[in-house]
Amino acid sequence: MKKIKSEPYAIVQLGNAVLRKIAAEVENILAEECQQLISEMMSTVSQAGGVGIAAPQINHSVRIFIMCSKPNERYPDAPFMPPTAIINPEILHYSSDKIKGWEGCLSVPSMRGLVPRHSQIKVRYFDQQGQEQLKEFTGFIARIFQHELDHLNGLTFIDQLESTKDLISEVEWYQQFAFKKI
Ligand code: NI
Repeated sequence: MKKIKSEPYAIVQLGNAVLRKIAAEVENILAEECQQLISEMMSTVSQAGGVGIAAPQINHSVRIFIMCSKPNERYPDAPFMPPTAIINPEILHYSSDKIKGWEGCLSVPSMRGLVPRHSQIKVRYFDQQGQEQLKEFTGFIARIFQHELDHLNGLTFIDQLESTKDLISEVEWYQQFAFKKI
């Protein structure tokens, strides 16, 4: 029997009101609808070649995001991190320094922005099994965490830019910064 490839879930685009809402806390992580949403998010982000996705991006205004960093065409220099569900996240501590780095977003197609983010964060969240986790993240992983947490608070990376001059076309970005890609 021929295996039917599942359709990718539609990713909500900038301008949709759900991306501007404060997402609600998850009350029952082990509930089937929550587990189902997590698996939809994991399959959507992997099909889209993203390194993270937040629930509002597939039109669910709840405090869940996925981090799944690995090198791919969109992020050639990304470190490896297995797909991880982050639920009801909080940042407990930020390093005082901020570093600018390039970000894109599945809800902001064809653009890249040079976004300042704290280089190190201490965080608390619940995992897919409902266990509390306390972790410290640095560099690109800390960047993804801050980007995705912003989505749960109605913000996109564009809101964090220091200047509109730090926003460029993805076509230009590939030509100028991703020339190492074969
Ligand atoms: Ni995003």
